Amino acid sequence: MPLFTIDETRCKRDGLCAADCPAGCIVFEKGGLPEPHDKKQAYCLDCGHCMAVCPADAIRLSCFSDAGEPVDRSLNISFDQAEQFLKARRSVRAFRDAPVERDLLDRILVAAEYSPSGHNARPIRWVVADGRAKVAGVAGAVAEWMRAESEDESNLARALHLPGIVRAWDNGTDMICRNAPALAVAVGPKQGITPREDGVIATAYLELAATAAGLGACWCGYLMAAAAHAAGVREFLGLKDTEAVYGALMLGHSARRYPAIPPRPAPEVDWL
Ligand SMILES: Cc1cc2nc3c(=O)[nH]c(=O)nc-3n(C[C@H](O)[C@H](O)[C@H](O)COP(=O)(O)O)c2cc1C
Repeated sequence: MPLFTIDETRCKRDGLCAADCPAGCIVFEKGGLPEPHDKKQAYCLDCGHCMAVCPADAIRLSCFSDAGEPVDRSLNISFDQAEQFLKARRSVRAFRDAPVERDLLDRILVAAEYSPSGHNARPIRWVVADGRAKVAGVAGAVAEWMRAESEDESNLARALHLPGIVRAWDNGTDMICRNAPALAVAVGPKQGITPREDGVIATAYLELAATAAGLGACWCGYLMAAAAHAAGVREFLGLKDTEAVYGALMLGHSARRYPAIPPRPAPEVDWL
């Protein structure tokens, strides 16, 4: 199968696809049609930049069954809006007792697929618990790991204040998953190009997408710590030995409103 096909009737012969390809997979000579590079086409990242940059929708990578979708500039937000959105995002730790619609979860998970990843490897899969009972099952597995660490008086138990969280759990307060009605866990291979970075970025994208969708979200660091150590939690999540958790988010309809943006220090920057 060729690397890509060109609609000759549409191609403007501008060479933009070749110029923008990050791996040099496309050969273009003035006046001609773009062609796959004999040797370098093997380096294609499937990133779709050739399709994204083409103003005539003339090129189609063979790895994609669908055409690209046009960018709707009428939906662009201003920098002021983006800045306000980014500053006003808060970690939400109080959720209404209402399920999160599957369609909404699907939609934000699709948005997170557009996060950058090293070599466009996109190695992340999601384990999602929807419904308070399922999330409580995950939290319970984490609590059991915390209990064992606390009984061992481990360094981790001291550093993460685990005995207090276990006491709260035993008294009916979930400080692990905060009674969230949904949980999304970013799982990726231990080995790879940049799986840890890819997982963290995908989770950050998901958090922003959730916020934009009107949901509350909060990173679930205790679950991430437990998944690195506890066989019971790993089994609960269905992780393979070759996989790690790189991000986890509690999700739900927020029970809080945040009418103010708390101060943050100015960024520390060294201009070279
Ligand atoms: C990697 C990571 C792990 C976190 N784990 C937890 C957690 O387990 N429980 C929690 O309540 N908040 C957790 N948070 C949220 C932070 O406490 C929060 O981002 C920080 O206090 C700043 O608040 P803001 O997100 O509202 O700006 C975590 C955040 C990150 C980035």
